[in-house]
Amino acid sequence: MSESTAEKLVELAKRRGYFFPSAGAYGGVAGFYTFGPQGAALKQNVEDAWRERFAVREGHQEIDAPTVMPEPVFEASGHLDGFDDMLVECAECGESHRADHLIEDNTAIEEAESIAIEEVEELIDEHQLVCPSCGADLSGEPVDDFNLMFGTNIGPGDSSPGYLRPETAQGIFVEFPLLKEYARNQLPFGVTQIGKAYRNEISPRKSVIRTREFTQAELELFVDPEGEGPDLSRVEDVEVRLYPIGEQEDEEGELIETTIGEAVADGTLASPWIAYHLGIAQEWYERVGVDKSRFRFRQHLSGERAHYASDCWDAEAELDEDWIELAGFAYRGDYDLSKHAEHSDEDFTIFKQYDEPVTVERATVDPDMSYLGPEFGGQAQDVADALESLAEEDRSAFEGEDVTVDVDGEEYTVPVEKTDFSVDEVTESGEHITPHVVEPSFGVDRLLYTILDHAYAEDEVGGEERTYLSLDPEVAPTTVGVFPLMDKEGLGERARDLAAELRAAGLSVNYDDSGAIGRRYRRQDEIGTPFCVTVDYETLEDGTVTVRERDSTEQLRVPLEDLDETLTALSEGDLAFADVDGEPVEED
Ligand code: GLY
Repeated sequence: MSESTAEKLVELAKRRGYFFPSAGAYGGVAGFYTFGPQGAALKQNVEDAWRERFAVREGHQEIDAPTVMPEPVFEASGHLDGFDDMLVECAECGESHRADHLIEDNTAIEEAESIAIEEVEELIDEHQLVCPSCGADLSGEPVDDFNLMFGTNIGPGDSSPGYLRPETAQGIFVEFPLLKEYARNQLPFGVTQIGKAYRNEISPRKSVIRTREFTQAELELFVDPEGEGPDLSRVEDVEVRLYPIGEQEDEEGELIETTIGEAVADGTLASPWIAYHLGIAQEWYERVGVDKSRFRFRQHLSGERAHYASDCWDAEAELDEDWIELAGFAYRGDYDLSKHAEHSDEDFTIFKQYDEPVTVERATVDPDMSYLGPEFGGQAQDVADALESLAEEDRSAFEGEDVTVDVDGEEYTVPVEKTDFSVDEVTESGEHITPHVVEPSFGVDRLLYTILDHAYAEDEVGGEERTYLSLDPEVAPTTVGVFPLMDKEGLGERARDLAAELRAAGLSVNYDDSGAIGRRYRRQDEIGTPFCVTVDYETLEDGTVTVRERDSTEQLRVPLEDLDETLTALSEGDLAFADVDGEPVEED
């Protein structure tokens, strides 16, 4: 799509109530958008479709956690230290810019996020990059890390700092000790959440594609790293276009057209869990209206991966000759659960039952506290705990007369005879493991933009130019437009009754009686309404209406009887318009 068409889409989005910059009455604020009536309905439909596919159909549970979380959560998760973008400030006008984006926009380098900060500074110098706002030379300006979290204070004063969550995922991880109970401690199990997340972007851009407040739909799947994988037979034939690291690093590299089954077999997709979710995501994106020929999965380069991920593939859509990220499929390993276990007093493990009990040798201690107490005072219990850990980790430490442990950097020496060290055979029925996390994480707002972009079309109808959104009926904000030919002689009343009947049947209906009928069709075309029904004089005579299909503009005369069922079948894809029982009508 050319730049001007992107502009036309943004203009249409505002004019027809899809989305627009927020708080315009106060001059607006960059990076915040309001979804209007059409946009909110589209968003709801897309979220429902996601919920149906990634939660309900997979048998996962959904939760709804707070958007503000206390600081210790983000100390543990690593976001406080490591969730940064590269900031360069213009000394001339004071405007802030994302340094990696400046490089991507002004050089042939495509993924500058993975480049080290010092090298980014050198590239700015080498390419003599200038401030996009005022044109001043940025050479020699320092590039700094900028933490993307929005901070706040919980309650009065500043004794309890908190942050708006930068990903919905943390709301799932911190509740793992309860969530595992709800899942009866059985792996694998998945927990989903659809909700707002916040990032204080240095330079929000491209309308709803990079905003400071956005909606994520995330699945955190907890798996046993040594357990069985997913049932790949369900997705093995799904055709995908993959862009693995090797192809990205090769100058001649290209997209690989393959199937999920082949990509797992030849090792392109290392994790069967990631492969499974790429397969269902490919099908789901096509279902909600992403154009398959402008869609791919790209593997993250090693320097590009988030601090928690050991492998990650992004779903990307082509917009305006740029590829933008729609979703990330990350292998987070045991990073998150281990970190929350370290930073809290809760148990983030799962007890994994063995098929058969096993007998193992266990080294244990039972320290003599009547010796440790007087000897080490307030540190006695910590020394006892350290002895217990050491016995598990290195029983040879107990071979001499004394054993030394480290507690908070201090060494404590204890006679071995006071530890009651022993090695015994014990029979165990299982072990505690920290599950690994596989995370399909979807951005909702940028998907909405992509759906609109890929649905945007222009043609000519009756000698006039027409713009329409070829939205899939499952996600279209309105399923049916209902019009009286004119609001007189009982036509308006009959049409209003029909609109009420169709709404009662569960269809989303837009009633419109203003202006010429052709203009009403154009309005519905522009918001992407797949079907329009017109009540005319024939309706009053023979109980038939015209039903018009948006993309083809073809019309059929159809009996009112069972119209709700016909439209429901059409909108659910169970009936093709060509198969509707009706008489063709000539004009638009
Ligand atoms: N949870 C992954 C992300 O927000 O990027």
